[in-house]
Amino acid sequence: MTKSLLRILYSSKTHQRLSEIDLTKLLQQSRQNNWQIQIHGILCYNHSDFIQVLEGPETAVIKLYQKILDDDRHYDCKLINICLSNKYIFNDWSMGYIDISQGNMRRLRQELPEKLSSDNADKFAFQLKHYLNSPSQKNADQTLFI
Ligand SMILES: Cc1cc2nc3c(=O)[nH]c(=O)nc-3n(C[C@H](O)[C@H](O)[C@H](O)COP(=O)(O)O)c2cc1C
Repeated sequence: MTKSLLRILYSSKTHQRLSEIDLTKLLQQSRQNNWQIQIHGILCYNHSDFIQVLEGPETAVIKLYQKILDDDRHYDCKLINICLSNKYIFNDWSMGYIDISQGNMRRLRQELPEKLSSDNADKFAFQLKHYLNSPSQKNADQTLFI
């Protein structure tokens, strides 16, 4: 099967904690834009660090990532994995959101390596999806991150 989608996983930092209003604006803007260009994914934030997965048509993802790299709401973007894929993981979400300061998600940023193999990056993305889809997000305590 042709792998026509591109998926990237990156982390970055914020200079200062984003307000609820600024975070909501960022999510609204992302969801509106992503919907139009068939991009899906998830954004995790813990008051000082972002982790984001973006997936979609190759050119659209690259163009968006270039815009994101230039965004002064964050800095120190580190590309953890980039891979081709034949299906969306976050097909139900134009941009899902997890507050990673909750539960054992807090450990995530410290434990996430600078680079992941594509298999492990996919595994990690599925774990985030599982967390996102659990109604009370209590399952985070049973989630084992790589
Ligand atoms: C951590 C982070 C994640 C972002 N994620 C997205 C995204 O998924 N989609 C998006 O369109 N913009 C995202 N942005 C915003 C872009 O950097 C940029 O401001 C936006 O795409 C510009 O939209 P416009 O062309 O409609 O003005 C993100 C910004 C930050 C700081």
